[in-house]
Amino acid sequence: MRTLKISEGIYDVGVNDWNIRDFHGYLTPTGTSYNAYLIVDEKIALIDTVKKEFSEQLMNNISTIIDPKTIDYVISNHTEMDHSGSLPKVMHAIGEQKPLFCSKMGLKNLSMHYSQKWNYHAVENGEELSLGKKQLTFLETRMLHWPDSMFTYEKTGKILFSSDAFGQHYAGYEKFDDQMDHETIMQHSKKYFANILLLYAGQVKKLLKTIDDMKLEFDIICPDHGIIWRKNPGAIIEAYEKWSEHPTRQKAIVIYDTMWQSTKLMAEYISQGISSEGVTVRPMHLRTNHRSDIMTEILDAAAIIVGSPTLNNNIYPTISDFLTYMKGLRPQNKLAACFGSYGWNGAAIKILTSELASMNFQMLEDSGFKIQYVPDEKGLTECYEFGKNIGKAICK
Ligand code: FEO
Repeated sequence: MRTLKISEGIYDVGVNDWNIRDFHGYLTPTGTSYNAYLIVDEKIALIDTVKKEFSEQLMNNISTIIDPKTIDYVISNHTEMDHSGSLPKVMHAIGEQKPLFCSKMGLKNLSMHYSQKWNYHAVENGEELSLGKKQLTFLETRMLHWPDSMFTYEKTGKILFSSDAFGQHYAGYEKFDDQMDHETIMQHSKKYFANILLLYAGQVKKLLKTIDDMKLEFDIICPDHGIIWRKNPGAIIEAYEKWSEHPTRQKAIVIYDTMWQSTKLMAEYISQGISSEGVTVRPMHLRTNHRSDIMTEILDAAAIIVGSPTLNNNIYPTISDFLTYMKGLRPQNKLAACFGSYGWNGAAIKILTSELASMNFQMLEDSGFKIQYVPDEKGLTECYEFGKNIGKAICK
């Protein structure tokens, strides 16, 4: 059981998913939570639900506060099944004809997920719903991060129910930002942004401008995952403003895999060369570091250097996996280069160059560096110089 009073008449009735470790490709070492919010006023509303397998727990949580049958309205801010999966159980329990509010795209998407004839109310952007003393406004946030996504804002308490935005994949009994170390929350938030919202950075910027233009104030931000912001909601807004600009600092990430340690040696000497120019550098072996942790490091890096041995005239499989993942998230404002050892065919360098260029990174001059078999002392010096030149380019 996990219910939490957020303010008068407003509760989190969601659940912790302590054991999830892979959230569609994103490593979640601390699990996650699916937050769902119950607003008890003259009318009672439930905002979002939880993953299907936790639906019983959601109903139990609601039951500790009210009889679920007394829920008047359900609001679906987002169709993705970590938030809509328990809708069938909720709607069945409260009465199938109770109004279900969602965006227009939400209606379309929910209908394609659940073949139920629910009493949908597709809302306009800015449409309001009175619960009595509390007044809700629906804000369309299309493509943040699905077409159906929307926020719900409670005007009286200045509370934003922000769906996936401003969240973190974190399971814990600490539920407010004042119950956790700030750096730790921000690190979780950064990873979440880098792996879920980076592709939509443009939409994040537009949304933040809209919020600013509307002069919306937030005393509390309630995301659908992780910590609720009540002490310092401005901190996460400021962070999103910064991250959505694709900021970079003097930092390089050297991402590599290796067969017989040659590409690893190259990565180390290249990293030392980059570092010699005063640039922060992180060599990240792909079988030691998870792709989602690498993406977090990439968020504010000025340069991405990718190293792969040539295997069967191709790049290493782990590198393919990573490039596919990174390409989807579309990081911007980066310099790029590549390197690797090879035996009799250095095809990996050509493939890496083409892949990195296709992601609109600025390829460094002489950006592909390869060494046959095992780097000797001269080869290692060349690696160091290759890195040094990358460091200089970053510092320009
Ligand atoms: Fe947390 Fe887009 O679902």
